[in-house]
Amino acid sequence: MNLKDLYINYFVSKGHKQIPSAPVVPENDPSVLFNTAGMQPLIPYLMGQEHPYGKRLTDYQKCVRTNDLDNIGDTYHHTFFEMLGNWSLGDYFKKEAIEWSFEFLTKELNIPKERLAVTIFAGNDTIPFDQEAHDLWIEQGIPEERIAPTSDDNFWIAGETGPCGPDTEMFYWRSNDPIPEKFDTEDERWVEIWNDVFMQFEKHEDGSVTELKNKNVDTGMGVERTTAILEGVNDNYQSSIWIPTIKLIESISGLSYEGNEKSMRIIADHLRTAVFILADPAGIKPSNTDQGYILRRLIRRAIRHAKNLNIDINSDWEQQIASLLLDQYDTYYSELKDNRQVVLEGLSNEKVKFNRTLEKGLREFEKVTRNNEDIDGVTAFHLFDTYGFPIELTEELAKEKGLKVDIDGYKAKFKEHQELSRTASQGKFKGGLAGNSEIETRYHTATHLLNAALKVVIGPDVHQKGSNITDERMRFDFSCDHKLSDEEKKQAEDLVNQWIKEGLDVVRKEMPKQEAIDSGAECMFIEKYPDIVSVYIIGDGISKELCGGPHVSNTSELGHFKITKEEASSQGVRRIKAILEEE
Ligand code: ALA
Repeated sequence: MNLKDLYINYFVSKGHKQIPSAPVVPENDPSVLFNTAGMQPLIPYLMGQEHPYGKRLTDYQKCVRTNDLDNIGDTYHHTFFEMLGNWSLGDYFKKEAIEWSFEFLTKELNIPKERLAVTIFAGNDTIPFDQEAHDLWIEQGIPEERIAPTSDDNFWIAGETGPCGPDTEMFYWRSNDPIPEKFDTEDERWVEIWNDVFMQFEKHEDGSVTELKNKNVDTGMGVERTTAILEGVNDNYQSSIWIPTIKLIESISGLSYEGNEKSMRIIADHLRTAVFILADPAGIKPSNTDQGYILRRLIRRAIRHAKNLNIDINSDWEQQIASLLLDQYDTYYSELKDNRQVVLEGLSNEKVKFNRTLEKGLREFEKVTRNNEDIDGVTAFHLFDTYGFPIELTEELAKEKGLKVDIDGYKAKFKEHQELSRTASQGKFKGGLAGNSEIETRYHTATHLLNAALKVVIGPDVHQKGSNITDERMRFDFSCDHKLSDEEKKQAEDLVNQWIKEGLDVVRKEMPKQEAIDSGAECMFIEKYPDIVSVYIIGDGISKELCGGPHVSNTSELGHFKITKEEASSQGVRRIKAILEEE
């Protein structure tokens, strides 16, 4: 039986109810992007609310921690992991928690007592030394030298405020070296495998700590690490959880794990996390904000490391790896079954998007760093805005060359850009182009393409006279002295669809207004624009228009373009209505 099943069965036998894993994106907690611990979805219940399943709960919870991507690539950090846990909501407390932890480790997992050590809370100004936990461990037969009291590491809280309390952590001797009698918490051969938190306090914003209504127990055991320990491997990626993925990456790349550990681990780790985020009921897609941004960074970083291994990134490598991971986990998580297609398409869409600019971006990066100078904020923003390089990617590449990136400068530039888009979406600059939902954003870009297509089909004298977008359709008014023939409509439609198929980048450039006009950029209400304007350029100058945005970053995001109506609007002005359909 595997670890997850053993754990759940054990705690069910101790009167716990198994609860399903909550989604990775918290449902009612906007303060965090992802669930980072098993207790996170249970916070209201730890604070005193009654849980419908009762006072004893157990589960395996999907967790995502992406605060330090630099750690990924070593033997034991993961951005996604499963956390096993058991909870008492005002029911049992330290005695049962410690007894059952010990019993599960030594009887169910058959870990020899000699390989175990624990830390306990040493006490601070307000909360005393945890004598009770100490005595309970002694009762279980853990010798005094294997019990280490610490203050900083043995008080657990999920963030800054909320339910918290002293804890006791269990460590395993992960080495073939002789086991020292005394437990030294600095010795990395001792690895933490489980944490029992005695959650009886709440920390408030002013730093004060008060008693909770209940004395609760919250525990957490990482599936990846404990599995590796049980299987006797020092590298989590060599455990049965990861072996199939690593083997597949070896076969796709034709390289062996040895010597390529870092990139292979990053690919395996990041794609697994991306699979779980994409499959989540929250419906997250890669984007430039919040969870979507993290997802984007993970996928793009995996792609870059695939490139490091000389994997042909245009092949279906990521589909193969994701399919394997979906197969591996979908009996435990039904959303992976339900959303299999969403996951696979989400990955391939983001890959196509990034691949298109990656080469160019890497070349640009080489260019801007050829003098080995640090990267300023404007350049970092340019790499982000034009080549889709998340700032962390720029930082990572810079680090490899021993260069620094001006992050504050980048942030300032980013903010400026956001303000511009916000003004634009409030409709200040562009008559009728208000609103910025994802679908409306697509229509904005389609409007530019239609404008450009009509100039090709009918003639350069076609100019925009008005526009209106809803999330159902676009309406575009333009100067033209005749009713369009079916042939003309079809040509315009085909041309727009051809540009969509070509997957052209949509690039925003800032420049003085006059320079934009002189360069031939289209513009409807010149007087409405500030002195420095944004010009959106599609492809190799296929379309160039002054516009506040927002726009998609690549035409491939638009779907299929279809003209639904062509009619007269006023004297010398025709009106086209069109829709974008899913392909
Ligand atoms: N909430 C505790 C942890 O994550 C169990 O370590």
